[in-house]
Amino acid sequence: MGQTPPLVMPVYGTRPEAIKMAPIVKELEASASLQSFVTVTGQHRAMLDQVNMLFGIVPDHDLNIFQPGQGLVAILTRTLDGLDKLFTVNRPRVVLVQGDTTTSMAAALAAFNHAIPVVHVEAGLRSGNPWSPYPEEGNRKLISQIASLHLAPTEASRRNLLRENIADKNIVVTGNTVIDALLGAVEKPLPFRDPALEQLASAGRRILLLTTHRRENQGGAMRGVGRALARLAARNPDLAIVLPAHANPVVREALLPALNGFPNVLVTDPLPYGEFCRLLSISYLVLTDSGGIQEEAPSLGVPVLVLRENTERPEAVAAGTARLVGTDEARIEAEVTSLLDDQRRYRQMAGSTNPYGDGRAARRSVEAVQRLVEEISG
Ligand code: UD1
Ligand code: UDP
Repeated sequence: MGQTPPLVMPVYGTRPEAIKMAPIVKELEASASLQSFVTVTGQHRAMLDQVNMLFGIVPDHDLNIFQPGQGLVAILTRTLDGLDKLFTVNRPRVVLVQGDTTTSMAAALAAFNHAIPVVHVEAGLRSGNPWSPYPEEGNRKLISQIASLHLAPTEASRRNLLRENIADKNIVVTGNTVIDALLGAVEKPLPFRDPALEQLASAGRRILLLTTHRRENQGGAMRGVGRALARLAARNPDLAIVLPAHANPVVREALLPALNGFPNVLVTDPLPYGEFCRLLSISYLVLTDSGGIQEEAPSLGVPVLVLRENTERPEAVAAGTARLVGTDEARIEAEVTSLLDDQRRYRQMAGSTNPYGDGRAARRSVEAVQRLVEEISG
């Protein structure tokens, strides 16, 4: 009888972690020399399950921590507690965490407290400001302090880690696994379940796609974004504005009042990943504070106006596809109007190249995990 392969445990809990971990989970499933045990925290519920279902991932363990209106400390303590119990009965050789959510930070901390090496997927992103994005900048810096292997998506993220004295030998530049997921999703465009979206897709109108959810934008800034979009909708009746609203009720309460009643504004529930990628690919322009969308849009040639003052993803800005516009109402209106009217400027932004990888990041990540496991197994 052969030996059981070493157990590798990806832990994730939110939509973007699920999207970016899925290609790694698939790669692990195909590996003969590693055995994967997928654990989800359930920090997000519907938005997480939607992604797992699309990728055909059935988690081996679900901490099911979701509570409506949950606070950061509740997410942290419930994850720590759940993983503490799990690790005593099911001890993996390494734990994989992705990005900078509270799930990721808590999972890294729980593993560290069990002396289990942590692999950080999408390591080294830095905005330089601990309050923006909050709490993500703090979370990812904390994970960097305790991770054994840092999978950096780009050379810039590798340099950030070196500046913080992370040893070069523990960093591997892989590309971002979001490109692996995206390329798979756009290969076979899915029909929209919402007939209004299907109609929009065949109408050939210009689509402005809006998403926002960042904690630091909630409240006044988000209300301002809503008002700016309402003015743009009124001034440009041929423009279709689509808002797949985040599940957080705080986001809806801030944005929707200003946007109610416009025939050219369509508000939907969070879209399944495949449908969202198709919508992104047919959009004229994206307005977002999302991290993942800043990485996906350049691959599809869609310009991004980022509703933030800074970004830990400077590559897309440098490439020319993304532009930081913040949340000032007048600025948003002016920037969108300029890209609607100035075709030369629009083509410049749309024509840039994707700096986030070639779709083989998951393969490189699993190869690096394999080397780490061999090293620690002596
Ligand atoms: C979280 C991450 C953020 C990531 C984002 C992706 C943290 C601190 N934040 O932010 O880094 O960019 O996910 O979307 O980890 N909710 C639902 N149903 C769901 C998901 C959320 O009702 O499926 C509600 C929750 O009840 C909660 C609110 O949305 O009140 C916020 O959820 P939470 O996970 O705390 O933070 P996000 O803003 O989603
Ligand atoms: N996304 C999705 N459905 C939606 C909106 C976004 O599948 O309705 C995907 C999007 O393609 C990207 C990810 O969700 O891959 C981004 O998630 P989010 O903006 O919530 O988080 P962030 O990336 O900012 O952490």
